[in-house]
Amino acid sequence: MSRSVVVVNGPNLNLLGRREPEIYGTKTLADLEKTVQAKAKALGIDVTFYQSNSEGEIIDFLQQNAPGSLGIVINPAALSHYSLALYDCLQALALPVVEVHISNIHAREEFRSRSVTARAARGVITGLGFAGYEMALEYLAALK
Ligand code: DQA
Repeated sequence: MSRSVVVVNGPNLNLLGRREPEIYGTKTLADLEKTVQAKAKALGIDVTFYQSNSEGEIIDFLQQNAPGSLGIVINPAALSHYSLALYDCLQALALPVVEVHISNIHAREEFRSRSVTARAARGVITGLGFAGYEMALEYLAALK
């Protein structure tokens, strides 16, 4: 069976590169996918990369694609701060989850420092840019 990981990005991350570049950098979502796929190749795992602006689509995607994978790398974006539906989905899937944020959510507006989805994660990597996704893949690839 192939060793695979799903990497999911939430609302507005399709705008990476144009969106508040002083916070999120100038690299695009396509650049992020290249970084992630290169890391996956180096680790000998497969990655299914997905982005959606819709909570329901993300939940449908996870329900359909995550079972049987090594785990989930997810940047839920703003959904982190309020989506109990996404939290329930991650809990229901019962797979290792690493939550990633490009910016440091604890160094910004107060509302960002609370993540409801993080409760369903093994760990959270926040503020390390695209490197956070690579570290999350390393963690999941190393699981037995
Ligand atoms: C983000 C941080 C969130 O607070 C924000 O809503 C995002 C992106 C990050 O990657 O830093 O859309 O998840």
